[in-house]
Amino acid sequence: MRIAERMKRFDAYLGTEMNVRLTRMRAEGKDVINLGLGDPDVQPTEHQRRVLADACLDVNSHHYPSFYSPKPLKEAIAGWYRRRFGVEVDPETEVTTLLGSADGLYHINTCLLDPGDIALIPDPCYPAYVAGALIAGGRVHPVPLLKQNGFLPDLEGIPSDVARRARLIWVNYPNNPTAAAAGVDFYRRLVAWAQRYEVVVVSDNPYSEICFDDYRPGSFLEVEGARDVGIEFNSLSKAYNCCGWRTGMVLGNRAVIAALNKIKSHSDRGMFYPLQVAATESLNGPVDFMQDRNRAFQERRDVVVEALNRMGVAAERPRATFYVWAEVPKGAGSSRDFCFKALEAISVWMIPGSMYGTHGEGYFRIALTHPAARLQDAMDRLRRFLG
Ligand SMILES: Cc1ncc(COP(=O)(O)O)c(C=O)c1O
Repeated sequence: MRIAERMKRFDAYLGTEMNVRLTRMRAEGKDVINLGLGDPDVQPTEHQRRVLADACLDVNSHHYPSFYSPKPLKEAIAGWYRRRFGVEVDPETEVTTLLGSADGLYHINTCLLDPGDIALIPDPCYPAYVAGALIAGGRVHPVPLLKQNGFLPDLEGIPSDVARRARLIWVNYPNNPTAAAAGVDFYRRLVAWAQRYEVVVVSDNPYSEICFDDYRPGSFLEVEGARDVGIEFNSLSKAYNCCGWRTGMVLGNRAVIAALNKIKSHSDRGMFYPLQVAATESLNGPVDFMQDRNRAFQERRDVVVEALNRMGVAAERPRATFYVWAEVPKGAGSSRDFCFKALEAISVWMIPGSMYGTHGEGYFRIALTHPAARLQDAMDRLRRFLG
């Protein structure tokens, strides 16, 4: 069997290898605490689940959905962005629905990159950005996210000949894996930079609703001129506690949205109708459940950051996302050595920073996806491991 050459350009998603290993360890009877995968122990509300169940029972729900995104859901997305960010978009031409934002993160590369074109990709980053660019035949130019810059890209540090040849630049705030946040000033500079070099901005904003203390993340689309140069992905996965529904969205530049619609008319046949109904109801419905959810994440954040700091591990207290980005203790080897040794010794899985890119080396990521008591257990094990 001959498999295409392009399959050698990228690795399988980083969760795949670990799932096999964790399943084996659990089969061996080990009590593994998985702080890796970003799929927390929270659920959609009973109302959301009931709407989904009722729509499934409707005999008319089981035909092919329309190829093109449904009007009520697109209007609900536009309404959510209006209420949440003060952003006005035309639901017909400036919004499309996605089978999880991962669907769009992948296909955007085919829309924007011809073979050999440059994609500016943060390093470290969510791995799908790199894989998608490589599969489309693009070339990746990493843009370092460094602690001294608050894990924001240094736009002026991108060589101008590279910027001129780049077709797109990814930004993701609140950020996975560093948990850094970006303010409106950063988005203003980004829009001006993108106009100067005619580069499409692809903003990935799935953590916009996971935030703590008084912090409320913004949207790239809030800035004047943003939709002339870019788009933003968002998703119900984290915001509405339904990672498994695979319901996402993209808003912004019309030409890019039209290109994505064209690709998706071939790659899928639209979103399962009951999911459209449930996503529409979720976006139009109350959001008070988010406060309790975020309070719980905040408590977990404090448990983990305080425990890490007490054992001498440097970690900032994030203002958003359910991740803690911590520094590998001195003398503990590479991030990969440290995390794999910890997994074998104490059955706690944390993701090595190097899995997110070269500049992730020296860090590891903890996902706050378990109750505070379980996280405390993981931290107690880690303290004993570090001696
Ligand atoms: C930065 C980032 N973008 C996109 C996604 C994918 O989200 P979705 O469930 O909407 O496909 C994730 C999931 O963890 C993520 O961390």
